[in-house]
Amino acid sequence: MRGIVLAGGKGTRLYPMTKAISKQLLPIYDKPLIYYPISVLLLAGIREILIISTPEDIDDYECLLGDGSKLGVKFQYGVQEKPRGLAEAFIIGEKFIGTDKVCLVLGDNVFFGQDLTKVLLNAQKQEHGATIFGYPVKDASAFGVVEFDENNNVLSIEEKPKKPKSNFAVPGLYFYDNDVIKIAQNVEPSTRGELEITSVNNAYLERGDLKVALMGRGMAWLDTGTPEGMLKAAEFVEAVQSRQGFYIACLEEIAWRRGFIDNEQLQSIGNGLKMTAYGKYVLSLLDEVRA
Ligand code: G1P
Repeated sequence: MRGIVLAGGKGTRLYPMTKAISKQLLPIYDKPLIYYPISVLLLAGIREILIISTPEDIDDYECLLGDGSKLGVKFQYGVQEKPRGLAEAFIIGEKFIGTDKVCLVLGDNVFFGQDLTKVLLNAQKQEHGATIFGYPVKDASAFGVVEFDENNNVLSIEEKPKKPKSNFAVPGLYFYDNDVIKIAQNVEPSTRGELEITSVNNAYLERGDLKVALMGRGMAWLDTGTPEGMLKAAEFVEAVQSRQGFYIACLEEIAWRRGFIDNEQLQSIGNGLKMTAYGKYVLSLLDEVRA
């Protein structure tokens, strides 16, 4: 399975913070925002990843992440010329996806929770159709909203409805079979002129090929759409990390635990960062094998 991180957009809701810097490069506590969605792909065992951003910002992402070889993964880069909607990711990524399945994660979505890996591996195993997630929120009207029956059969999905039919928002994490490329190519732009991911999901719904997996109360899906949301997300990450001593979205740790890199590679990354708490954490992981 291939992974796409969509880190486009102008971030206008965060101006002036994002006037000169792409939103997903801003920090959430101690690491760039985009580390969090990338960590989700790594946890799902996905090692071939396409990062999509704007023509102005794409070089900055490449500067941050490189070709991925240090993490034992492969990063490629794609450009979205205009903010024409999330579904365009599959058109831009057509060659990259090839004949494979694909997981799309939005560059500003932060997930954390006990069952996350299990949830991801389940969705990843799906051979056919699409899997989206449902996450309960107080006000779903700012998101895609999924309505389902008592057997979790999807009844409808609507994009930012004024009157949501359920309180389950659809987070920015989607698993698709290869048909998504053709489906995205045939999606009509919405009234706001975008190729909506909700239209893609509706196409799968019409075929009877859409599954929803519910994320429970033990899962955190954090909002980073406003300065307040970013601060709260940062506080959450800091609180968990300082309490448990385990880092959230430490890409080097995940790559190492997944066996993408070995002890020496981890050591070398840690050495390069050892002036920071992050680097010290990376190095401290090796104590586990020495113990
Ligand atoms: C997008 C999707 C929406 C989804 C949300 C999750 O909205 O269109 O369906 O619920 O991401 O972050 P946007 O953030 O582009 O407004």
